[in-house]
Amino acid sequence: MEFREGELVIFLDHQERSYMQRLHPQGKLQTHRGYIAHAEVIGREPGTALVTSKGKELFALRPTLVDFTMNMPRKSGIIYPKDTAYILLWADVGPGSKVIAGGVGSGALLLALARQIGPSGFVWGYDVRQDMLDFAAKNLRDFLGEAENVSLVLGDVYEHIPERQVDGVILDVPEPWQAVEPAATALRPGGVVVAYVPTIRQAESFTGALRSSNRFGVVETVELLVRDWHIRNRSVRPNHRMVGHTGFLTVARRIVRPDGQAPPETQGPNLDRDPENGNSA
Ligand SMILES: C[S@@+](CC[C@H](N)C(=O)[O-])C[C@H]1O[C@@H](n2cnc3c(N)ncnc32)[C@H](O)[C@@H]1O
Repeated sequence: MEFREGELVIFLDHQERSYMQRLHPQGKLQTHRGYIAHAEVIGREPGTALVTSKGKELFALRPTLVDFTMNMPRKSGIIYPKDTAYILLWADVGPGSKVIAGGVGSGALLLALARQIGPSGFVWGYDVRQDMLDFAAKNLRDFLGEAENVSLVLGDVYEHIPERQVDGVILDVPEPWQAVEPAATALRPGGVVVAYVPTIRQAESFTGALRSSNRFGVVETVELLVRDWHIRNRSVRPNHRMVGHTGFLTVARRIVRPDGQAPPETQGPNLDRDPENGNSA
């Protein structure tokens, strides 16, 4: 379908620079490589190649979720698409899922969750700052329109998460270990908790709190590295620059031990036995 007035458009050039704007009949994209009037875009098919006033080619496209997330206004750090993709699959978020997002921030993760769960799912986004919730609400509206499957709640996930039997709790807050008990109470048995943290010390503290809660098991931490490649003529190599670090992701399942019995590994002497080779770690 052709571009209409009022829609979001992203202009991409051959060097992969991007400019996201909302189309207006009098609007104009101005770059150091010339300008393009929005009137040239309205009524055209997405993907159309356009030429700027200085003769440079640009493509006009509808932003994907990744385009939007990487170009939307930010008021906090965001979870990058590579980590979001992992979260969606490892937390098993799909159509109909009921999910908590603790720490809404700019709303990047929330957008991906809201889209993934569809109209039959629901996401509750908690933040301790109303200005963050308002900011995220605007980003959400700009990309998804009026989303009826999202509730933005002013609240502290360290204190309380009132929902019950949810499928997933995703935490992007400074001290996720403080949210372990509220998350355990909100999750259904077998549900998934994920924490995204920038430092390994935080991942360690979160893991410790999960293990000692006796309400979570199958705890894993990963870090995801993505390396872009430069492929042009005979020059085929990794790009010189890469994003070296975003965060660590710790994932665990809500488990239930009959009568609150202690986990077997805490009953023996070898607390840190490495299951791979049997050595003490
Ligand atoms: C890094 S931002 C989240 C970014 C977000 N995940 C995104 O992708 O855009 C962290 C947010 O957590 C909020 N926060 C901090 N402590 C919190 C708590 N105890 N409960 C709820 N939100 C909290 C902060 O106000 C901040 O907006």
